[in-house]
Amino acid sequence: MIKNPICVALDTPDVARATALARSLRPHVGYGKLGMEFFYAAGPQGYEAVAREGLPIFLDLKLHDIPNTVAFGLRSLMRLEPRPAIINIHATGGADMMRAAAEAIDGRALLIGVTILTSLADADIHQAGFAENLSGREHASALAALARDCGLDGVVCSAPDVRAVKSATARDFLTVVPGIRPADAATQDQKRIATPRAALDEGADMLVIGRPITGAADPAEAARAIAASLELSHAS
Ligand code: C5P
Repeated sequence: MIKNPICVALDTPDVARATALARSLRPHVGYGKLGMEFFYAAGPQGYEAVAREGLPIFLDLKLHDIPNTVAFGLRSLMRLEPRPAIINIHATGGADMMRAAAEAIDGRALLIGVTILTSLADADIHQAGFAENLSGREHASALAALARDCGLDGVVCSAPDVRAVKSATARDFLTVVPGIRPADAATQDQKRIATPRAALDEGADMLVIGRPITGAADPAEAARAIAASLELSHAS
């Protein structure tokens, strides 16, 4: 289903920069990801300017609220033109919220759940009130199984968690993996990293890559090189 698994994180508040990146990267990546930094600054109009470049968009707004509010928030986002290809919510919003979200989306976009943020170590999630006898990976796998039961299409997880998530769910339950770094790239603030090839070998379906592409002197060349390392013949 996903031909080019590279999803480039267009993390900027600047519409012109995001639009230029989307245009130059389109031949080499499968998706562009617009998150809070962009959407809170540029709004629906900024989103539409970037999406009109033709790159399918992952709108990474991580909704988390009561079921009714999330459902109507998603309905509003589904009115964007062109519509996002992928959208996400927090799985910790619970089963009723996830079911309401799936019903609101009704197959019009892939609906992805954020399980445990990859920025949280086990000590952090236990401090936040998660059961201390379970690791972050176990919590993430349990939330992924619940997300699947509620009709979601996949979850965000780190590369080392992909196998556990797949075995708790199904092979075709999508795993969207950030923290991707080519072997020669700086790790920056990411902790649990994998190379693009290693993440795919773990079974990842989509690779979220930001600064190794957008921070390169020549972003299109960086994306092309990563795609070549994956032996992808064509984009998207
Ligand atoms: O620049 P970098 O490759 O680290 O960008 C990764 C992108 O993935 C960022 O947009 C970040 O917000 C997002 N992300 C992440 N870890 C998560 C969820 C999303 O790094 N658990």
